[in-house]
Amino acid sequence: MSLPSLSRIPAPPDAILGLAEAFKADPRTGKINLSSGVFVDATGQTPVLSTVIEAERRLADAAGSKLYRPIDGEVAYRELVRALALGQDHEAITSGRALATQTPGGTGGLRVGADLLRQTGAGGTLWMSEPTWPNHPQLFLAAGFKIRTYPYTDATGRRIDEAALLAALDGASPGDVVLLHGACHNPTGVDPSPDLWKQIGDVIEERRLLPLVDLAYQGFGDGLDEDAAGLRELVRPGAELLVSTSFSKTFSLYAERVGAMIVIAGTAADAAAAQSHVKVAIRVNYSNPPAHGADVVRTILADPELRARWEVELAGMRDRIKDNRRALVAALEARSIPGDWDAIATQRGMFALLGLTTQQVARLKDEHGVYVVGRGRINVAGFTAANLDLFADALAEVLATS
Ligand code: LMR
Repeated sequence: MSLPSLSRIPAPPDAILGLAEAFKADPRTGKINLSSGVFVDATGQTPVLSTVIEAERRLADAAGSKLYRPIDGEVAYRELVRALALGQDHEAITSGRALATQTPGGTGGLRVGADLLRQTGAGGTLWMSEPTWPNHPQLFLAAGFKIRTYPYTDATGRRIDEAALLAALDGASPGDVVLLHGACHNPTGVDPSPDLWKQIGDVIEERRLLPLVDLAYQGFGDGLDEDAAGLRELVRPGAELLVSTSFSKTFSLYAERVGAMIVIAGTAADAAAAQSHVKVAIRVNYSNPPAHGADVVRTILADPELRARWEVELAGMRDRIKDNRRALVAALEARSIPGDWDAIATQRGMFALLGLTTQQVARLKDEHGVYVVGRGRINVAGFTAANLDLFADALAEVLATS
């Protein structure tokens, strides 16, 4: 017997993590990595948060066990992360119709949610924004969904084309799933206004669609509650939806793979029934979750003093990204690079989309050692005093000669 013949044909490298690998292997000095969404400080490092170090010290002192955890995670963790996303006293929590599950990162949460929907007979069509995070289409295709797209920004790439977005959703069929970025849209950095969230909620209600909100950057835009406001607009009385959250970025726990998937059902009884299917989806996939990252997040969120310190650390990351946005716009304008760069300063989250051609992206990498994703998605958090001018010079040169 032998491996299937297709296994002999190499798959293309991952659109984001493959670039990070290529960057690592690049021997050039002065190379610049703006590919994967990873926060770096002013020195170019990704430090472990001081609150994470403190939580890890407490966990080590407590010398817990390495026994299997519950399939859907520890109750304390599940309740804390649910409150973080929905707000402590939300009706969906007090009524018991929102139940959270610990998942391996946001990607794990999306896949558990997708499996839950497919194995319980959801309609097979899922709508996502064009553009979106490159892992979204392949993840939901792998889970068995048919993918449809709704337009997102207008031709400038700087504003949402509200009419086109709403018209596309209005054309969706009852039972279709609609994937929405809760905040800090990846890759554009352009988020719906409160009024647009309301209109999206209205279309979803009228067309009887099922939202799945990907909330991977809560707190990187304007603040913890501010960044959850769009999601909370959708959690209307009786409304049903799924939420996937991630703590990779906001707790800088990338390698620990910790996140959550929240099912919000119409009633507490329906939520409990859905939760039993969530557990089946997990058991046949990875059996039960890893412990450490969730223990760290729980330790921080459960302790008011530690939580307050984490919120300060989170605000520090958010502020640095905002400063980087302003510095980037100033650097591009100082070089008189043609384009509407101003909007980058007021976008949200880690990413901005430069709208480059495939050739321009290749030239940035090949000629300047600058790694960006797709059509020029840059990780704004990746700029430092040491690389910003080098990047702006490289971009100016490529745009002037292509
Ligand atoms: C990104 O979009 O760069 C991050 O979410 C990292 C990833 O897993 O792709």
